[in-house]
Amino acid sequence: MKNLVLLLFILCVATTVDSQPAAKDFHSYSNPQDVRVRHLDLDWDVSFDKKILQGAAVLTIDRLNKQAPLILDTRHLNIDEVETSANGAKYTATKFSVGQSDPILGAPLTIQLPANARFVRISYSTNPDASGLQWLAPAQTAGKKNPFMFTQSEAIHARSWIPLQDTPQVRVTYTARVRTPRNLLAVMSAENEPNTPHDGDYSFRMPQAVPSYLIALAVGDLSFRPLGRRTGVYAEPVVVDKAASEFSDTEKMVEATERLYGPYRWGRYDLLVLPPSFPYGGMENPRLTFATPTVIAGDKSLVSLVAHELAHSWSGNLVTNATWRDFWLNEGFTVYLERRILEAVYGRSREEMEAALGLRDLRDDLARLEDRDEILHIDLTGRDPDEGSTDVPYEKGALFLRHLEQTFGRARFDRFLRSYFDHFAFQSITTDQFLAYLKTNLLNENPSLAAQVPVDEWINQPGIPANAPKPTSSAFSRVEEQAKRWLGGEVPASAIPTAKWTTQELLHFLRSLPLPGDAAGMQGNTGNTTGTAAASTAAESTTASPDRTTATGPNRNGSDKSDVVVLDPQSMAELDQAFHLTQSGNSEIAFQWLLMSIRNRYEPAYSRLEEFLMTIGRRKFIKPLYEELAKTPEGKERALAIYRRARPTYHPISVAAIDEVLKWKP
Ligand code: BES
Ligand code: ZN
Repeated sequence: MKNLVLLLFILCVATTVDSQPAAKDFHSYSNPQDVRVRHLDLDWDVSFDKKILQGAAVLTIDRLNKQAPLILDTRHLNIDEVETSANGAKYTATKFSVGQSDPILGAPLTIQLPANARFVRISYSTNPDASGLQWLAPAQTAGKKNPFMFTQSEAIHARSWIPLQDTPQVRVTYTARVRTPRNLLAVMSAENEPNTPHDGDYSFRMPQAVPSYLIALAVGDLSFRPLGRRTGVYAEPVVVDKAASEFSDTEKMVEATERLYGPYRWGRYDLLVLPPSFPYGGMENPRLTFATPTVIAGDKSLVSLVAHELAHSWSGNLVTNATWRDFWLNEGFTVYLERRILEAVYGRSREEMEAALGLRDLRDDLARLEDRDEILHIDLTGRDPDEGSTDVPYEKGALFLRHLEQTFGRARFDRFLRSYFDHFAFQSITTDQFLAYLKTNLLNENPSLAAQVPVDEWINQPGIPANAPKPTSSAFSRVEEQAKRWLGGEVPASAIPTAKWTTQELLHFLRSLPLPGDAAGMQGNTGNTTGTAAASTAAESTTASPDRTTATGPNRNGSDKSDVVVLDPQSMAELDQAFHLTQSGNSEIAFQWLLMSIRNRYEPAYSRLEEFLMTIGRRKFIKPLYEELAKTPEGKERALAIYRRARPTYHPISVAAIDEVLKWKP
């Protein structure tokens, strides 16, 4: 009996060490309940010739269960030797085994631990096809003279370049030493010294404990420009000045976020601009956001990305999703914060436009997703967590918080969020932990207000609740008016006052136009809402659409129920001439236009489409374009011809996505 009480006591203490109750992470083989990694000491040679990292990782461990081995996650790592040590000085070899490899999870590395082992040293090298690394030839960089490499660890790619407990429940501090070719600079998601000499030998220290998906490294010909007292930007020398002027509001954004949600706790906030093959818009690596060069539009119109990645310094990096089914805690909160930052720095109208575009994205996604993928607390068991990365965690999550804000009032909700970040700072939490905190610290205070927010429906049901907020933008309503008048043949495109429009307005204009192949009502704009996932298009709300559009036979899904409405070639050409869309240097506009061009078979844009797909690897852009092409036999042929040449230049994460779209067999 006494023993049982003692055992229960030990178990309780063991599981509350980090005040993190164990939530099963189905995307990791590791056993942090038994052995917990606390610190990593990393050491690599970066070999561009072999496209590998070669070196060692020393793990400092806590033994919660003395009998248990250490189980780590790996994917395609070559393990040369594993040693253990009691004091970190004298190491002796130990037994290890690499288990069966799973296509999603990789393979467990099980390491036997002698009784006194506190340090584990793994000597290893990565594989040239590691899913979390991309190795770029000089031709793929802006400068064209030097190679470049970078990592992308989220969601579960850290294991392809470091043997570790690859679950966001485990946080580690780290140190690293990185040797590179002499003229190149290495930077990490750690303390970077902007004025470090470029001598090919770099040391890093990350004193704050972070989850594995936030460990990052990049090596290239990089220059630095300061943006503010603790902000700056790294980029290739030919890009760095453009980047610095594009991102010149960064310090202001940090200050605005601090006013809302408390101090920035990570020291410096720098940005790194990557080559265009970077598969994401941005990645919130602590102290050093990784960003696509496609947000450098020349007019700061796409800097919401900086607001977004910066916001993760609170939502995500400070308070972290405990498993990938809690991903909406990272992204939904971050989109909500992003819009608050935009409002603080650029005003309410900008916020409204971004929120309206976001709602439109969400509705488009809800129209195509299965019910199980529309749930915030999504079940991803047996699936690749990257599949959970739809607009649901981002936009539905943000809309839920907006609903709470509108219901409880901004002042009250701001206080709640700030206390939430303080309360869970540097912890990884589950959806249930958030809900318990929400209940105690907001809902219970005012049950009649709480009754207006269907929390369970938000979290556990598909779709969006009927009383969800409907962000609208008066600027967008004016844009819709113009779209209608043009579609109705009342005004020529050249008479539409786009010169005064923001990028967001032009985007909304393009998205208000009818598109073929969509179910009726799916292309709704967000100002015109009915409370369901559908709204009508500018085309539908005007009876004059045949002026600009041609109705054709059966739609591309093979159904002959609805006629396909396409913009006729003259109308496409008229838009192109008036707004220079094919030649647009704004990646969001170009993307939207190219998508329309495929749908409407607007041939003058085809060579630009090819150039876009050959130079940009951002998954959010290229995947929909390939998908659109693949809808017709001629389009698919063109897609395959382009992809055959582009594939070797894409990141493994984008390759995986496009292989799937085109059913490509390597
Ligand atoms: N953390 C994400 C990127 C990510 C998500 C990488 C899931 C791997 C798996 C990042 O913060 C993000 O959301 N990036 C967006 C840009 C943003 C402005 C919405 C992107 O890359 O499109
Ligand atoms: Zn994000």
